[in-house]
Amino acid sequence: MIYMLDTADLKEIERLMDLYPIEGVTTNPTIVARGNLKLRELIKRVRNLIGEEKMLHVQTISDRSEDMVNEALRLRDLAGGNFYVKIPATPQGIKAIQALKKRNIKVTATAIFTQLQGLIAAKAGADFIAPYVNRLDNISSNGIEVVSDLVKLMDIYRLDTKVLAASFKNVDQVYRVGMGGAHAVTISPELFDHIMHHPLIEQSVEAFKKDAVGFYDLDIKGHEEDRKRMKTA
Ligand code: E4P
Repeated sequence: MIYMLDTADLKEIERLMDLYPIEGVTTNPTIVARGNLKLRELIKRVRNLIGEEKMLHVQTISDRSEDMVNEALRLRDLAGGNFYVKIPATPQGIKAIQALKKRNIKVTATAIFTQLQGLIAAKAGADFIAPYVNRLDNISSNGIEVVSDLVKLMDIYRLDTKVLAASFKNVDQVYRVGMGGAHAVTISPELFDHIMHHPLIEQSVEAFKKDAVGFYDLDIKGHEEDRKRMKTA
């Protein structure tokens, strides 16, 4: 499964990319507006931070397909590198996706809420389709089911499009879309921290360190620091 960060927070992108196998950053207009940088400066800084190879997904806000295409070209020029334009999968968006694919622009179809909407976006040529799990769960629909159905549909019709599950509010939703075969997920920094936190992990690692004292005679700086810390604890 591909992991991406759904954020425009530069510090968090730097911190988490240093630790984890994260393959890209996704944003949307709401995420951009939460920060204090205008879009052009933000795109420049994120690209500098993540390098040319990692994916950067940026969304358009135009309504008409021709405007979406122009906006996408502008965003592509600004972002450079491995860029995906996020196009909302409205009727005009589906038209824009087809036009963009003819120009070899990579596309993530976003704001996917139903299986058939996602299938049409995939048929139009989207590289990723992004169903919104939590927003569906919030209206008593079933976000996980939409994701796993879309994975099956991509398989049945042999489409190369990847299902990029998005809009999460808890770890369980991420786990369940993983079990449903999601090809990719995009998650907030906060949720990433929650995924990697479990009291048993820290407890087990600490116990191993205690047991090793006096036996691990390797000349490593960190070991010496551990020994001192344990003596004073
Ligand atoms: C990603 O493509 C979406 O824009 C994002 O995950 C939506 O998340 P939200 O429902 O938490 O706003």
